Amino acid sequence: MIFAANFKSNHSRASFKEYAGILGDFWSEFDKKDDEIIIFPPFSAFCGCALKDKKISLGAQNFYPANNGAFTGEICADMLSEFGINSVLVGHSERRALGEDDEFVRAKFEFAKAKLWRVVLCVGEDDIVHMNGNTCEFLESQLEGIDLAYEKLIIAYEPIWAIGTGKSAKPEIIAEILEFLSLKTKAPLLYGGSVNASNIAMITQIPHCAGVLVGSASWQVQSFIDLIKASKA
Ligand code: 13P
Repeated sequence: MIFAANFKSNHSRASFKEYAGILGDFWSEFDKKDDEIIIFPPFSAFCGCALKDKKISLGAQNFYPANNGAFTGEICADMLSEFGINSVLVGHSERRALGEDDEFVRAKFEFAKAKLWRVVLCVGEDDIVHMNGNTCEFLESQLEGIDLAYEKLIIAYEPIWAIGTGKSAKPEIIAEILEFLSLKTKAPLLYGGSVNASNIAMITQIPHCAGVLVGSASWQVQSFIDLIKASKA
């Protein structure tokens, strides 16, 4: 299972150092088989924590698709490589809400692919698309122009209407969408949207589910540890 944690704009460098120490200790003792943790902290928290285990790594929540240049306020590849970052989130609905359209998402994907980075591509519909029953067509449009055979691609299905609500999508809905996505790609498929210790066991049993992308339930280290443990219960 892939346990991906999106910290969004939470954690300082100091608090993440403490978090990483506790999580690292837990993870070194954990009976992991093909399990893996990827944490997406804020950029400012990249340095200052030592993650010794190969199956726990850091990724970037965002980047500008260039090595460097005149892009005020952006973080480019040169800055990420200084921290050894080679996993990135692309297409998260919170970035799309800030103006990243499908074309820019594609440009970021292409750039990341050229760098051979691992890309966690987020797709997901809002409540209107969901209620109108148009989710598959919508996801298809978000995937247009994306190389679904890229070997370092991971796709996270994150319905916007389930993010940050405390209520995940129902298992039958997740199952239907993951089945749909599995017919298009061999990439590992994650679910994200109010995943927590109470629903993780149910979610990870869904066919084609290779893991989860967790927001709020990952921000406290004990909550994230409880979630990982509960996935095996
Ligand atoms: P929550 O787990 O808080 O719903 O957030 C999900 C998410 O946006 C992960 O990228």
